[in-house]
Amino acid sequence: MKLSQQAKKVFERLKSAKHLRFQELEEEGLDQSMVARSAKELEEKDLAEIETEEEVAYELTKKGRSVIREGSPEYRLVEILEDGPKEFSEINIPADVAVGKARERGWIEIDDGEVRLSDEGGLIEEDELVQQLKNENFGADHVERGLVERITETTRTLKLMRKGEQVKVDNIEEEFNVEADAEPPGIGKKHFYRHVMDEAKDVWLEMGFQEMEGDYVVSGLTCFDALYIAQDHPARDLQDTFFVEDPKASDLNEFGDMVDKIRQTHEDGWKTGSKGWQYDWSEKEAARNVLRTHTTETSVQKLIELEEDDLPGKYFIISRAFRNETVDRTHLADFDQAEGIVVGKDLNFAHLKGYLTEFFERMGYDRFRLVPTYYPYTEMSVEIQVYDEDEGEWLGMGGSGLFRPEVVEPLLGFEATVLAWGLGIARIGMGAGELEDIRGLYSNDKEKIYETPLWNPER
Ligand code: PHE
Repeated sequence: MKLSQQAKKVFERLKSAKHLRFQELEEEGLDQSMVARSAKELEEKDLAEIETEEEVAYELTKKGRSVIREGSPEYRLVEILEDGPKEFSEINIPADVAVGKARERGWIEIDDGEVRLSDEGGLIEEDELVQQLKNENFGADHVERGLVERITETTRTLKLMRKGEQVKVDNIEEEFNVEADAEPPGIGKKHFYRHVMDEAKDVWLEMGFQEMEGDYVVSGLTCFDALYIAQDHPARDLQDTFFVEDPKASDLNEFGDMVDKIRQTHEDGWKTGSKGWQYDWSEKEAARNVLRTHTTETSVQKLIELEEDDLPGKYFIISRAFRNETVDRTHLADFDQAEGIVVGKDLNFAHLKGYLTEFFERMGYDRFRLVPTYYPYTEMSVEIQVYDEDEGEWLGMGGSGLFRPEVVEPLLGFEATVLAWGLGIARIGMGAGELEDIRGLYSNDKEKIYETPLWNPER
């Protein structure tokens, strides 16, 4: 005979006990559903029988317990009336139940709005209801009054049957159900958005890019001015940018004469061949600290640090940027960008397109296009769009272009071309998590994380 491992265990216990309440087995540490399943199995094999017994019990309710504590309303009324008749308004206990019950029993009489004890009422000496409740002498009227609750308890007992007595435990083979659902192991799982970002990072690394590091708190100089963003540009407004109160400003001395080159570039173009923006550039404005509004700031820092010997160089960062947005279904005040630059001598727009095409292909987007747009720091400037097969639409993925001489020359100090891009990868994360609301990218809803399949670009 074959039995499951658990049923065999229960059978073994039953052989010696003859009767076993389910409860006993559970108290011995067996899981409730397992006991029920095993019992069924033993019953199906005619080894045991399940007996179900229903027992009715009564239990005091909260209201019942308060009657025991405070006395029954009708008895309390009798006590109150012992001093003489009272007007309704003088009875300072909830009068409706008290009057109703006392009247039913003939303990009171009501006359002209006055309540008084009847002859019979005058003889009452003890609170009979309280005594009944205390002695657990429960009846249907107690249930009706909500003082006592009727509960049925089911006891299930497993009883050994004749066949069970004959079968020897040693002759039972253990049967394994290899198709049974197993508990999923409670191990950790990466958040689907983290996973997308890590995959993107792997793609850049595979393409030979080096990872950059940067700070969140930066000066306006590297976040804006170095990118030839004029000081009255709306992006530098309080509405778009988080300014840092403490430390309020950076010491720009560490940037040496670069600060002056940037000033001149803004004012008259310096030697970049540009006419500049034609205004008085303020160093104080440039020193103000902000939370970086784009990871392009990190690319600026990389360009400052680069030596001619480092060329050609390919760099990327996937990290947080901050904008003073009203948070809603499609906007966050902090988000992640995948930023990159390629610095070299003989680079052109075709290379830029090549890198981006390669990246998006590896991220699972085969259709890709570049649409003209404007950034103060690139020429030409393009928006990157990929085709989302599932949604059947073009999605804007971020901006890109060749950094203008007004950006490159003050930062590098030698001839080079810089290809640059900044991609929003939230869209990919939202696709991975099938999210309608961008906030889901940063919420740690464990169930959602567990149920979301691992993102795979070869979908
Ligand atoms: N910084 C731009 C943004 O945040 C993207 C960009 C990066 C555009 C580099 C051009 C070059 O949208």
